[in-house]
Amino acid sequence: MKIFLDTADTELIQKHFATGLVDGVTTNPTLIKKSGRDPEEVYQELIDLGLPDISMEVVGTGEEMVAEGRRLAKKFGQNATIKVPCTRGGLAACRILASESIKVNVTLIFSAAQAILAAKAGAAYVSPFVGRVDDNSFDGVSLVAQITGIFREHVARTQVLAASVRDVSSVSKCFGVGSDIVTMPPTVFEKMYNHILTEKGLDLFQQDWDSVNNSTKE
Ligand code: E4P
Repeated sequence: MKIFLDTADTELIQKHFATGLVDGVTTNPTLIKKSGRDPEEVYQELIDLGLPDISMEVVGTGEEMVAEGRRLAKKFGQNATIKVPCTRGGLAACRILASESIKVNVTLIFSAAQAILAAKAGAAYVSPFVGRVDDNSFDGVSLVAQITGIFREHVARTQVLAASVRDVSSVSKCFGVGSDIVTMPPTVFEKMYNHILTEKGLDLFQQDWDSVNNSTKE
């Protein structure tokens, strides 16, 4: 049950990685653009922080993705997971990179059929996009459940990394249907700690504790 952060904001990653509860990071071109930084500077900073698993997205033709994936894997070693889209070119690149023992995350998965092809291409992870499926009036968690069910039935080595997660309840639901990893924005990770009844209960315990201490001092 692994938690990844879906961001390229290294300050936030550092803060949350320090909890010991975060296992990796996923980035994409949009998140890198939002950070306003050079992608490789971001990856290097995360490696220096000790992040063991960083998804680094590559673009272009199949050949270009292979070349870039090889280069990134050589530069960043075992910490690098090369992220490719679930297209013909992306899956062809996945097959080649996986055959060279380079970890690949196949992203932009919107159907079980795509996840099956990615698993056959040797992907370490498939990333079904829960929130974007929900946005289009399908059920993102059901898609995750369908994929985990197929992978379990066929003892696939590919892990399911639920992505595009936008709220805490989706995190629990994705793990509940067997997702190996859930990647989420830092805001969602922070909200996982919260529950109104924990706060209320804590207030009451504190009040009672204070009154016990006051009465024993009298
Ligand atoms: C997956 O790895 C992507 O980075 C991400 O989860 C996409 O999320 P979004 O749909 O919120 O952009």
